[in-house]
Amino acid sequence: MKFFIDSANIDEIREAASLGILDGVTTNPSLVAKEGKNFRQLLDQILEIVDGPVSAEVVSTDADGIKKEARELAAIHENIVVKVPLIREGLKAVRTLTDEGIRTNVTLCFSPTQALLAAKAGATYVSPFIGRLDDVSQDGMELIEQIVTIYSNYDYRTEVLAASIRHPLHVLQAAMIGADVATIPFKIINQMFKHPLTERGLEQFLDDWKNNEAKLV
Ligand code: G3P
Repeated sequence: MKFFIDSANIDEIREAASLGILDGVTTNPSLVAKEGKNFRQLLDQILEIVDGPVSAEVVSTDADGIKKEARELAAIHENIVVKVPLIREGLKAVRTLTDEGIRTNVTLCFSPTQALLAAKAGATYVSPFIGRLDDVSQDGMELIEQIVTIYSNYDYRTEVLAASIRHPLHVLQAAMIGADVATIPFKIINQMFKHPLTERGLEQFLDDWKNNEAKLV
């Protein structure tokens, strides 16, 4: 499973990259707005830190506007993946962009039939939003399961990118189902390291070692 960080915060991205477990980055307009920085400069910094796919989202909602923005974003760097909303105009644009060799991440996916359309349009990634479905009493993980099954039935090459992850169990369940990628907020990456038995066990090992006055080398 590939791990992306869902963030536009440079400190978080740098720290996650230093862990040696990071394959890419996803951003969205809200995450970028939160940083209050120039988008282009932010992207340049992210691209310098992470050598992997970096999703940058368009803000146009008509196919021509989406294509124009997508071409501009893709021209910045070969690692840019253009994030396009899962709307009719978005998928129209995705077909053209795919034919031009521009990689896309079709975002705001909330149903398996939307995901089927994204694959038909040739999307590189589809981003089902787990947490936002859970928020409205729909099972986000069931959507991941449905998409993974559909894509495997027909050998679609579109990768399932589990998004809107709210806790480590979301990562676990997405991994069990076989999602290709999880895009994870920094806070949750940190939570994944933690287990009280690891902390207690290490404390005990180090205490015993100190009491024994042994030397490692
Ligand atoms: O970046 C897309 C997605 O991961 C957003 O997550 O927590 O705002 O629903 P969230």
